[in-house]
Amino acid sequence: MSGFPQLRMRRLRRSETLRALIRETKIDVGDLIYPLFVVEGSKAKQKISSMPGQYRFSSDLLAKEAEEIARSGIPAIILFGIPQKKDEVASQAYHPKGVIQQAIKAIKKATPHLLVVTDVCLCEYTSHGHCGVVVDGDVDNDKTLELLAKTALSHAEAGADIVAPSDMMDGRVKAIRQALDGNGFQNIPIMAYAAKYASAFYGPFREAAESAPQFGDRRSYQMDPPNWREALREVEQDIAEGADIVMVKPALPYLDVIRKVRDTFNYPLAAYSVSGEYAMVKAAAQQGWLDEKKIVVEMLTAIKRAGADIIITYYAREAAQWL
Ligand code: PBG
Repeated sequence: MSGFPQLRMRRLRRSETLRALIRETKIDVGDLIYPLFVVEGSKAKQKISSMPGQYRFSSDLLAKEAEEIARSGIPAIILFGIPQKKDEVASQAYHPKGVIQQAIKAIKKATPHLLVVTDVCLCEYTSHGHCGVVVDGDVDNDKTLELLAKTALSHAEAGADIVAPSDMMDGRVKAIRQALDGNGFQNIPIMAYAAKYASAFYGPFREAAESAPQFGDRRSYQMDPPNWREALREVEQDIAEGADIVMVKPALPYLDVIRKVRDTFNYPLAAYSVSGEYAMVKAAAQQGWLDEKKIVVEMLTAIKRAGADIIITYYAREAAQWL
């Protein structure tokens, strides 16, 4: 007994109830993290033209948004700050009254149970837009570590629940873990952007966060897209340094990498479905070229099927209605 006609694969596809019974991958709003951009000042809600439907909020309005987000069942947000002042050493990234530090406090006050993850990186805060300290035209790894550790610590002090370094400097997870542990924050997890590729899919984000590098590009620190073995070494290293959750980014064009990481490491795995993934679908949907809801549910399911436990997506709020 093997094969047709005894075997008919279509038998289990005959009704939605049957299909649901044997469905292998289920996606839930509880798997999603929603990214948000925060600006200084008050009463600000600015459209992001490269990401229709997404906004930059000031902390006061962001706190209100956060309450709605929590009510929709989304468990966590990840915050990106856009400071008014940028300089060579990213001072506003670790200023106790910086844009992010104030936003964290406002959100935690309004909705204490919503998890606040913070993106730990300097690119939005440096005048040149690179993710670290520039010395002789190059991003200096070791000098940057100290600032990243200070930044993560200031986020924890402001009340962040999880810190997420996205800079791709070597040794940042270790530096951040030491800074947190040395200051009584042993219980704050690190979600490391472990395999973060130098991707053109970040284009719309850089407009949103005003973080495009003013010279050169990020290929000397973010990963080369053709490499997957190297991704496993990056993840291995971040785990060795103390990462609690590891991440692959972008998501949809890197499903193979997500699968490899899932099969190799028994750590919670996040995938970041980035701005370019969002913008592509939004643009096509606005033209009426595809069914946005179906596409988004299919994309999120595919990312989960590849092995991600957590998905960071700009579609989180819409998906909360659709799932
Ligand atoms: C900061 C950072 C970036 C993204 C997340 N954190 C931009 C970059 O590396 O240039 C991209 C997110 C997205 O495209 O949605 N370094």
